[in-house]
Formats: sequence, structure tokens, C-alpha cells
Amino acid sequence: PISGKHGPLVGAVDQGTSSTRFLVFSAVTGEVLTYHQEEVIQIYPKESWVEQDPSALLKSVLICIEKTVENLRTLEIDPADIKAIGITNQRETTIVWDKTTGNPLYNAIVWLDSRTASTVEAILKETPGQNKDYVKDLCGLPITTYFSALKLRWLLDNIKEVQEVAQKGNLLFGTVDTWLLWNLTGGLDGGLHVTDVTNASRTMLMNISTLQWDPNLCKFFKIPLSVLPEIRSSSEVYGYITKGPLLGVPISGVLGDQQAALVGQMCMSRGQAKNTYGTGCFLLYNTGTQIVQSEHGLLTTVAYKFGKTAPTVYALEGSVAIAGAAVRWLRDNLNIIQSSADIEPLAKSVKDSGGVYFVPAFSGLYAPYWRSDARGTICGLTQSSTGAHLARAVLEAVCFQTREILDSMQKDSGISLNKLQVDGGMTCNNTLMQLQADIAGVPVARPSMTETTALGAAMAAGAAEGIAVWDLTKLSPLTTDDFTPTLLPEEREQSYERWCMAVERCMGWEL
Ligand code: G3P
Repeated sequence: PISGKHGPLVGAVDQGTSSTRFLVFSAVTGEVLTYHQEEVIQIYPKESWVEQDPSALLKSVLICIEKTVENLRTLEIDPADIKAIGITNQRETTIVWDKTTGNPLYNAIVWLDSRTASTVEAILKETPGQNKDYVKDLCGLPITTYFSALKLRWLLDNIKEVQEVAQKGNLLFGTVDTWLLWNLTGGLDGGLHVTDVTNASRTMLMNISTLQWDPNLCKFFKIPLSVLPEIRSSSEVYGYITKGPLLGVPISGVLGDQQAALVGQMCMSRGQAKNTYGTGCFLLYNTGTQIVQSEHGLLTTVAYKFGKTAPTVYALEGSVAIAGAAVRWLRDNLNIIQSSADIEPLAKSVKDSGGVYFVPAFSGLYAPYWRSDARGTICGLTQSSTGAHLARAVLEAVCFQTREILDSMQKDSGISLNKLQVDGGMTCNNTLMQLQADIAGVPVARPSMTETTALGAAMAAGAAEGIAVWDLTKLSPLTTDDFTPTLLPEEREQSYERWCMAVERCMGWEL
């Protein structure tokens, strides 16, 4: 291999809900030089339970690193040029392990899992005014099944081994970033128990102003402070890889995947926003250093903090639980399509959804409703409805949900976006992109460089103090493919009204 061929390189681990990837970027051009991807398995032990095997998640990361390094050698690029590694991850997913054995004590409880719905109900009954937003001023989040605190509470309440290890003082909690960092930096031999502010802001336990674990929140959710990792910034040298082909490389960037995509899309100024279409769909709007509390069902979250003493940048977030997951459902549960990519030709084979509206509230409805009593609903079926109409209704559902979030953002900020910057796996679907522009009534800009999530993590890692191979002041906007709205405003509003009717009908199902 030829060293220095592409300048300094930065690696990014992207551990998402559906797959794990390791990508290598040139810090000079921002180009992806190579990557490897592994699917990850979802476990559905009961209705509305979603789990993953923490050891399998870790293994997928190690395999991705190994294979990518092999690719580099094949390309005659020297792996020693990798100067830093960033981690970006599915957020909220909750893992507990024993610090004396390193063994996970239960499967990871995935963010989508809604087993804690009854706990949420019980907590709300005892909360003044049954107010979902009771702790929102402290942590920016409503009390729902989505965030880590209640998942951790469930583990402490229901799993004997977790209780025993906790009693001995050996229990560690982490989101996926923390689990990976602990293992990659040594595990039993001194692995670091840390997380970054963006991931910590999704637990419901971090105070959004002080960026520390909040004793009142921990008390409210009955979580012992001692099991929580140390909170650090999103860009600093946390530690070094202790094994494998990247032995000794610093890990110096950690961001939750949606925050990483915001950074990778270069939305680093107040008022900029991006929407990522993955398993779910997440729209983040940069509010600068100001903490904006939403009045319309959005979350307040930390966007990034690039360095120990750097200012904290915040975002408003609209989270949609089911986007790509509905396409998977068509594939795996209804067998209407063979592969996820088949949805586009099928949806395009009809001119519209034939009046079919599909609300994929499989895990309740997230933003802006936060209703765990909502369930998936299909409305408007007729004798002539076909799989193609349903496929189109699935794509439209993703767009309608985004439109709802955009409306909330506009109400909260008083500003309407003049373009929607998008990314994520689903955005290769041109039909979806056109539907999005039509349904939202706003132009959609899709970057030609689609690896924005990994890019964000790599940028955080490469810009860390002591690494500095990536100059964030020299960012240029990504080139994009643009989709322009074609629907008349009255057509748009008519179909949106129908969607709202379908949403009304999906609520109120008993748990
Ligand atoms: O909050 C959940 C989110 O981080 C998951 O992202 O890309 O795995 O759907 P993704």
C-alpha cells in the first residue's frame, strides 16, 4: 500500500437499526474510499417488543472494520493513514452489562420497542395533570416509551440478573455508542464507560441545560446514577482502539445518527434542517445555542458539541417511528414485494393511491402526537384497491408524516423551510422524493453524496482537538439532485385532509 495516497483518512462506524457499516473517508476531499456493511438481526419476542443481541452488534462492527481494512489493502491504500475514528449509532437503544464479566445481561431493548407503554400510563397517572410534558423543561422530551430511561427501568424491575448485578455495584448501562466504546477501548481491561451529549440527550436522564445527569430525573425514573456513563462532548479523544487491524487509532467523535446526519449535511447554522429516511424518519432543525421548547409536539435535543469547551448547539426534532420499516413490513409480512427496492416500480405502476391511506402506527405514533394507543390503520380500501395502491400509500405515509413535522416546526419557529434537505437509505427512491416535494409543497434536495450520517461522525472525529485533520471551517455545501413540487395547492390540501382523517382513526386502540 502507498501511504498518504488520499491524505489523512478518517473512519466512521455507523451502527444503525437495520445495519452496521464502517466507512473510510479522505479528510482532504470528503470522499468515501471504501466501506463494508453487515445487516443486523431484529428480534421480536412479543407483540411490540423489539430487541437486538448486543454481542452481535459488536461483532458486526468488528467484521465491518476488518473487511474495510482488507478493501483498503486491495485498493493499495495504507490503513495506517486512518488517523481517527468516529462512532454514530441508533439512539435510545438500551444495553446493560456486568463490568466484571463484560457480558450483556439482556438483549438490547431497541428504541422502537414499546413494552413500557403500561409503565408510561402508570407514571402519567401519578403525574400532576397526567402531563406527558412534565419533565420536558429538564430534558426536552415527553414521557413516552421511546427514550432509554423507561427501558432501563424495565430491565431493573423485571430481570433478576440485572437486579443482582446492580446490587453488587457491577451494573453498567449504555446506549449503543457506550457499549461499542467500552468494548473497542479495552472492555474488561479498562474499557471506557462514556457517552456523548447527543446520545445522553435521548435517555431522558440528562439535564439539557447543564449537560449532566439530572438527580431529579434519575429520582423520577428511579435510576441509580452509578450505572450511568460519563457524559463527554461529541468531538474529543475518548480513547484508543485496543485490538484488531486499527490497534492504537484514537476514537475521537461520537454522535447519535440523526445528529450526525445534520452535521454531515453541513446544517451547522441556525435555521438549517435535514430529514433522514431510515428505519424511521427524523427531521432535525438547528436552533443554534438556544434551547427552544416546542409547543407542537417536537423534541428538544442536543445537536452537537464539538469539543470540551465548545458551545453546545441544540435542535428541534420531529421523530417518525416508521418509515423504511413499513417497506420492510410490506416485504416480510405481506410479501407484496420481494426486495425493498421493488416498492418503487410497484408504487409507480399506479397514478395515485386510489384513495388508500395507510398510517403505519406500528409502535404508536411519535411526533407530533406521542400516542402509544395508536395502531397501524389502512383506510379507503375499495374492491379495486391493489398491492400497488398500498405500496404507494406506504410511500405517501412517510411524506405525510414529514409534512406534519414540517407544520409543527413552522409553528414553533415561525419560519418555513424553503427547501428540505434529505438523506438516508430510502432517498434513492425518486418516486418517494417527488411525492415528498408534492405532499410538503417544498422543494426537496438530495445530496449526491448519500453517506451523510457517517460523514458527520467522521467530521466530528477528524476535527477533534489533537487530531485536527478535518477543517470544519472549510466546508462547502454538498451538490444535490432537486425535486420540485408539481401539485396544485388545493390538491395538496385535499389529500392532506384525508390523511388527517386516517390519523384520527388510528388512535384509541386499547393496549
Ligand atoms: O432514534 C432512533 C434513530 O436513531 C434510529 O435511526 O437510522 O437506525 O432508523 P435509524
